[in-house]
Amino acid sequence: MQGPARWGGRATAARIEPAGRLRHKEGQAGGQAVIELRQVGMGYGGRRLFAGLDLSLQPGSFHFLTGPSGAGKTTLLKLCYAELRATEGQVMLFGQDTRSMGRDAVALARRRIGVVHQDCQFLDHLPLAENILLPLTVAGRRAEGEVHLPELLAWVGLSRRADALPPELSGGERQRAALARAVITGPEVILADEPTGNIDWDMSQRLLTLLVELNRMGRAVLVATHDLTLIRAAKAQVAARVLRLREGRLLQAGADL
Ligand SMILES: Nc1ncnc2c1ncn2[C@@H]1O[C@H](COP(=O)(O)OP(=O)(O)OP(=O)(O)O)[C@@H](O)[C@H]1O
Ligand SMILES: [Mg+2]
Repeated sequence: MQGPARWGGRATAARIEPAGRLRHKEGQAGGQAVIELRQVGMGYGGRRLFAGLDLSLQPGSFHFLTGPSGAGKTTLLKLCYAELRATEGQVMLFGQDTRSMGRDAVALARRRIGVVHQDCQFLDHLPLAENILLPLTVAGRRAEGEVHLPELLAWVGLSRRADALPPELSGGERQRAALARAVITGPEVILADEPTGNIDWDMSQRLLTLLVELNRMGRAVLVATHDLTLIRAAKAQVAARVLRLREGRLLQAGADL
C-alpha cells in the first residue's frame, strides 16, 4: 500500500478552509471551549445512561473516548453535535448554550463540526464524489467544494475512486470517504465515532494519521474507539487525552493504557 495521501500541509489546508478557521493552535489553555458539557445527564425512556458529566474540548485538543459497548459513547457524541438534547445539564457549542439556541443557530453551529458516523451511511445511487460534496451541496456551497475536491480526495487516497458508487467501496475506502465528507466544510471540530471499526491495522493507522494531521492543522478532534492499540499508537504522535465512559461516569484514563 502507498503511504498516506496528504493534503500538502498547512498552506494547502488554509486554502481548503473558509477564512479565519485556523487561528487556534494546540496548547492554548483557558480559551473558550469549542464544545463543553456541564453536569450533563442523558437517558433513553426511563433508563439513565449517565449523569453529572463534564467535558471541555479546547481548540486544537485531541481526545479519545473509550468504554464498553453500550456505555453511551455514540450518545455522548450526539450530544456534542446537538443531534440529541441532554435530559439534564448544559451543552455549550462555541460558547452558546444549546438550550437557548433555535434550530437555525444549532444548524449554524453544526456546520462548524464534522462528524464521522459509526455506521458511515452514503447515498448508494450517487458517486463517491457527490456523496463527499453533499454537505456543501445542501448548504448551497457546492461550487466551493468542487474547487477543493480533487485535493481532498488525494489527501484521503481516493482520487481514483471518485466515480465509484458507495456499495463498490471497501471498508477502509468507506471510512476515508466518511472522513472526507466530514471535513469538506472546513469544520473546527471533528467527532469520529469508531472511525477504524471493521478495518485492518494498516488502514486504521492510515485513518489515524489523517486525524492527527487535521489536529495539527488546528482542529479539535474527539475519537470514540474500542481500539486500545490505536490509542497507544496515537499517543506516540499526538498529545491525546483518553476519556473512559463506564457505568455512567466519564473518567480520564490513566497512563497504564
Ligand atoms: N435511540 C435510542 N433509543 C433507546 N435506546 C438507545 C437509543 N440509542 C442508544 N440507546 C441505548 O443506549 C445505550 C448506549 O448506546 P450508545 O450507542 O451510545 O453506546 P456506545 O457506547 O456507542 O456503544 P458501541 O460501543 O456498541 O457503539 C445502549 O444500551 C443503547 O441500546
Ligand atoms: Mg457507539
